[in-house]
Amino acid sequence: MRPHHIRDILFTREQIEQRVKTLIEEIAGSCEAENLVMIGILRGSFIFLADLVRGFEQHDLHPRIDFITLASYGSGTESSGSVRILHDTNENLAGADVVVVDDILDSGCTLSFAKDLFLKRGARSVRTCVMLDKQAKRTVEIKADYTGFPVEDVFVVGYGLDYDNRYRELPHIAEVTFGEQDR
Ligand code: XMP
Repeated sequence: MRPHHIRDILFTREQIEQRVKTLIEEIAGSCEAENLVMIGILRGSFIFLADLVRGFEQHDLHPRIDFITLASYGSGTESSGSVRILHDTNENLAGADVVVVDDILDSGCTLSFAKDLFLKRGARSVRTCVMLDKQAKRTVEIKADYTGFPVEDVFVVGYGLDYDNRYRELPHIAEVTFGEQDR
């Protein structure tokens, strides 16, 4: 791990809670409830997906829930561009209305890979939901159907996002600064 500091909080716990609440309403207001499957991309989406689905009951939404583990990053902070399946989903997706959930949309490789994969497996529709959208880094043309917040081109951690698999537990989202020096 490179020397680094976690300093500036970009989104507080309260801001995240508020935004998640409105995302739940957006999803509930626009999704086909009958055959809904929520699929989280691991590991970054685990907190976000859990927060989203806990708000579903009051909208009478009872989706199937599944996960897929995809890798496009090593232990560094740059996308490798190619995506691999490390652990696959279990649910039958034929005819399903899928919502894929990820922590952050960066180059777009991961989300467009997942979307194509689930469509190929027979999903009737695939929508995408991300907590953060780092638009500056997009190399693949994709726009999420539901987005929490846009974010600048900085490396962020917390609320499921990690640096070298650490800091996922932070209740807020913060910027990582790299280097030895103190500010
Ligand atoms: P792509 O480039 O495929 O990347 O859109 C999506 C995946 O890259 C990870 N990612 C980040 N993880 N802080 C993180 O902790 C970041 O700033 C960041 N940017 C991209 C993330 O796992 C996402 O699923």
